Amino acid sequence: MNFFFLISSSTIRTSTLKKIKTVVSGQERVDVFSRILLNLYRWKNRYDAKFVVVFYLSHPEENLTITIPLDLISSPIENELEATKFMVNLLNSADELGINIEKQDFSSLLSSLASGCNFFYLTSSGKDISQLDEDSIKSNNLCFILGSQMDLTDSQEETLSTFDPTLISVGDREYLASHVVSIINHYLYTIFK
Ligand SMILES: C[S@@+](CC[C@H](N)C(=O)[O-])C[C@H]1O[C@@H](n2cnc3c(N)ncnc32)[C@H](O)[C@@H]1O
Repeated sequence: MNFFFLISSSTIRTSTLKKIKTVVSGQERVDVFSRILLNLYRWKNRYDAKFVVVFYLSHPEENLTITIPLDLISSPIENELEATKFMVNLLNSADELGINIEKQDFSSLLSSLASGCNFFYLTSSGKDISQLDEDSIKSNNLCFILGSQMDLTDSQEETLSTFDPTLISVGDREYLASHVVSIINHYLYTIFK
């Protein structure tokens, strides 16, 4: 079984040189992706599923999909610094890491994932994650879609709605995307462990 985590950012650019310092205090908020990567890396060996992180850069001059099967990462990511270094290298020179980057619009990305996956859109207005039907969760690959420091745009939500995602919530409050990822995994772990 594959678990895809698709996170979209409208602020991260590939045209600016990334350094540790600019990531930590930077306006582009690459740190959001770093924390998500670190959290998912920590969860990936706890149960039997393949984790694939899909970062989407939705800035109009980017429209880039970065697909990272976590099993392909050769150096362990064990702390925030290592996660940040990975993101810096990735955004400066993805080719050297052997990571697949594709230019495509959001709709094409969703179409490419939709064939083998059930879509779950993370939003506080969705139904509580604990109410999901376990049998249907186990019947297909899963793709969890969320915003980064900002929600998906209205246009992205409209596009996503055509794929009929299940809207799920992890609570009434707004959480950091990296925390949402951990809460999802906590729930999945109770089902798949
Ligand atoms: C930091 S939040 C986005 C910004 C936030 N809406 C705000 O107040 O500006 C990052 C993403 O995590 C997901 N998220 C945050 N809180 C959630 C919740 N309670 N339930 C489900 N998803 C949530 C959403 O996909 C959201 O776009």
